[in-house]
Amino acid sequence: MVCSVKSVLIFDSGVGGLSVYQEIRTLLPYEHYVYAFDNAAFPYGELEESVLISRTLDIVSRLVLKHAVDLVVIACNTASTIVLPTLREQLDVPVVGVVPAIKPAAASSEKKVIGLLATPATIKRRYTQELIAEFAKDCEVLMIGSTRLVEIAEQKMRGELVSLVEIQQILQPWLDRVDGIVLGCTHFPLIKDEIQLAFSTPVQIIDSGKAIANRVKALLGETDQIVQNQKKNVTYNSAASHHEAALNVFLSEMGLSPIQNLDLPHS
Ligand code: DGL
Repeated sequence: MVCSVKSVLIFDSGVGGLSVYQEIRTLLPYEHYVYAFDNAAFPYGELEESVLISRTLDIVSRLVLKHAVDLVVIACNTASTIVLPTLREQLDVPVVGVVPAIKPAAASSEKKVIGLLATPATIKRRYTQELIAEFAKDCEVLMIGSTRLVEIAEQKMRGELVSLVEIQQILQPWLDRVDGIVLGCTHFPLIKDEIQLAFSTPVQIIDSGKAIANRVKALLGETDQIVQNQKKNVTYNSAASHHEAALNVFLSEMGLSPIQNLDLPHS
């Protein structure tokens, strides 16, 4: 049986969702992808919750209609830990969220000391605290909420140099302490190698990308049949920017279009 191509919307505040998109596209290379990021309200880790919920709902609803989207991925921990109930209530299509992979990290830690690296908002969320209480009872969970690391990932994807010294300074409290790190922000897999380099001993670095890709595949009910995708993958932002040449090169390498502006009335 040959399946028809499905349209998948992947949403984040910035480039972070591309780390999730890469995992999904590796598993499901023939689907149609719409990547949207809300750069007008970036960074989400410092945004008021009510604004985050209404912006996400607004942008996602528009694009679901415009592209007859079959499945939505909120490729942002900061958003997922707060918007999923509202989105699932308002949309007729499945919504997959990304939350920190506390469970596998706690289970595989030998020292029983792990680090959660996320945005300032994610480490404060009740959802995150509940994940820790449920799945990391036997662990000490150290937390760093860093918007600077999010910005560094944005810069890297625009071809700028990444300062390893700065990353090491941010992670300083964890050096020689943790043996596992949860990347609780989708921006951070984009600087995973740099994060690893901050540690002199190997640490296990875990993110949620592959698990999300498996979940998307299961929900779409896709088989491994090859079908030709006739539709072009597309990228949107919420605030027009005229200096995205370097990012557009990365997007094209990933099979996405140059950035188009969503032209939102309120941005
Ligand atoms: N990529 C996002 C996350 O997973 C949010 C980064 C931000 O805008 O602060 O949390």
